[in-house]
Amino acid sequence: MRSLKVLSLFVILSMILVACGGTGSTGGAKELKVAILAPLSGPVPTFGVSTRDGALLAIEEWNAKGGVNGYTIVPIVEDSQCTPEPAVNAMNKVVDQDGVKFVIGEVCSKATIPISEIGTAKKVIVISGTSTAEAVTVDANGNTKPYTFRACFIDAFQGLVGAKFATEKLGAKTTFIMLDQANDYVKGLAEEFEKNFTAMGGTVVGKESYTAKDTDFSTILAKIAEAKPDVVYLPDYYNIVNLVTKQAKEKGITSAFLGGDGWDSADLDVVAAAGGYFTNHYSPDDPRPEVVNFLAAYGAKYKNDDGTAKVPDALATLAYDAANMLFTAMTTAGTVEDVDKVKVALEGIKINAVSGAITLDAKHNPVKAAAILAVTAEGVKFEASIAP
Ligand code: PHE
Repeated sequence: MRSLKVLSLFVILSMILVACGGTGSTGGAKELKVAILAPLSGPVPTFGVSTRDGALLAIEEWNAKGGVNGYTIVPIVEDSQCTPEPAVNAMNKVVDQDGVKFVIGEVCSKATIPISEIGTAKKVIVISGTSTAEAVTVDANGNTKPYTFRACFIDAFQGLVGAKFATEKLGAKTTFIMLDQANDYVKGLAEEFEKNFTAMGGTVVGKESYTAKDTDFSTILAKIAEAKPDVVYLPDYYNIVNLVTKQAKEKGITSAFLGGDGWDSADLDVVAAAGGYFTNHYSPDDPRPEVVNFLAAYGAKYKNDDGTAKVPDALATLAYDAANMLFTAMTTAGTVEDVDKVKVALEGIKINAVSGAITLDAKHNPVKAAAILAVTAEGVKFEASIAP
């Protein structure tokens, strides 16, 4: 009876400890809880699987080296669906129930924006590998959100690079823009592309909106067939790109489709999207040692159904980089508990990440080069790299 009481006291005490800041201990080993919020289901599941796997690889490597400041990292993975409401529910769960103080995620800007607001209110550090919309790290008044960071460049740069590639490399003079106004990422990237394309002397010959629920794009595609633009800018995720490019090919449209990082997926329909190009964060063809080593470690841990090594996409890469930013900052700060010290260390971070060297500007945004990738029926190929 007495030992039962002692035991339950111990259980209660360790629960309190865990609830007090994402750290705790079981049987001596100190534990640091880190949440990974990723869209494992919903419209873009490959984004979630890659993000989870990239972050878990980094955690495994740090734990193999003895953890962070003597703490073993314990990942808590939640499915946030690339959608605001499930993302907010997942964030509240990991913060309020698990006592997490550090979050890697979300992938999609429209889900990361609301969770970053919870992070600001509750002093929880949120690092998104991949959310490129400006409003992820900056609030409506233009102030940098103190606890929100990212490992990727932003859409102001991505839109500029897309416009530069279209005008200089493809010689495009006209464009047609397709966008989903309800998606912060798509809307923002379309605006940046339009602004830069027109500043470079190009003309927008049409601009049409659709919604994420649409499956038949024939009305917009009929307008594109009529306008015959040099390029069609479609900065959406792969699920929409697959539908639109397939229907465009069936209609005999020959304009080149261009897009952004949202095209990056093992499930991109490369036959439908062949002839298109997209801007991205990284290419597995990059010979830098950081890329070579990451490809080897990732391929050894994760396999395709046929047993071959998986090649990490930009999502896996940036989740790995985001996790390494966090653990490096904790090492520099000498703490896994003092969120403000970790935040300051993140602001001064300097690492040779897989996606490029990362230092952050005053808005917590990395300044990094972008890759242009070409889609062919045989797969996606590296085309060019454009530095800021
Ligand atoms: N940049 C996208 C967004 O902000 C997410 C994304 C990044 C998707 C990289 C694919 C690859 O919503």
